[in-house]
Amino acid sequence: MADTIVILTGAGISAESGLGTFRDTDGLWSKVRIEDVATPEAFARDPARVQEFYNMRRAQAAGAAPNPAHHALARLQRDHPGRVVIVTQNVDGLHEAAGATVLHMHGALDRALCAACDHRWPAPAEMRPEEPCPACGAPAGRPDVVWFGEMPHHMEEIAELLAAADLFVAIGTSGQVYPAAGFVQEARLAGVETLELNLAESDVSAAFDRHEIGPASEIVPDWVDRVLSGGRARG
Ligand code: OAD
Repeated sequence: MADTIVILTGAGISAESGLGTFRDTDGLWSKVRIEDVATPEAFARDPARVQEFYNMRRAQAAGAAPNPAHHALARLQRDHPGRVVIVTQNVDGLHEAAGATVLHMHGALDRALCAACDHRWPAPAEMRPEEPCPACGAPAGRPDVVWFGEMPHHMEEIAELLAAADLFVAIGTSGQVYPAAGFVQEARLAGVETLELNLAESDVSAAFDRHEIGPASEIVPDWVDRVLSGGRARG
């Protein structure tokens, strides 16, 4: 049977599309504090500030286009004879724009969520502090993104996928935010081969069997070419 590949992507894959990362020099978290914009407490304290932050990010994401790394993963998902599951921590829609299907573990900027009734709907370009829910009418609309202190989505499914994979690949993620940072250990415990593709060594590089260094727009298409020409996940 053909190899199953599970891929985790982070902000680094969208960097060359012009979307900033979080922890690199000049990253988002050097400009704003997590506790001011990305926690449930921040939203309770100052919903206008939090909505403004995500309105800004939604506008940036809407103006960005997928780069060769997103396109290469979509091609891999289409052409690899085995299963290719892409799990992303990114809240932009660039994987989908390239034609891929992805699991958004940290939610999506283009979705809204009602904190009162859990209804979800497409987010307007600009969300207001007291955004009304179209289902229940409560002024409780928030971005459908996972904040620090909240449980990421699809965790059970991801654990099962990791255990059953032949190869786990992490692309453009610093390995500093759990639970995603622990996927490499989960994969290793299950005897799954692991590969890291990143611009630089990350804090968790040593946990991977192999790593390749370079910009995602170059090393991801190169790796995908090797996988597709060899027919095996190992590339
Ligand atoms: P980080 O900003 O922590 O890490 C970005 C990673 O991308 C770093 O390891 C960089 O070396 C790498 N990188 C930068 N440019 C690259 C390029 N052109 N090609 C390849 N790699 C590149 O971003 P994440 O790991 O995605 O969560 O951050 C994880 C989570 O922390 C985010 O989902 C977000 C953030 O706080 C929430 O907001 C809940």
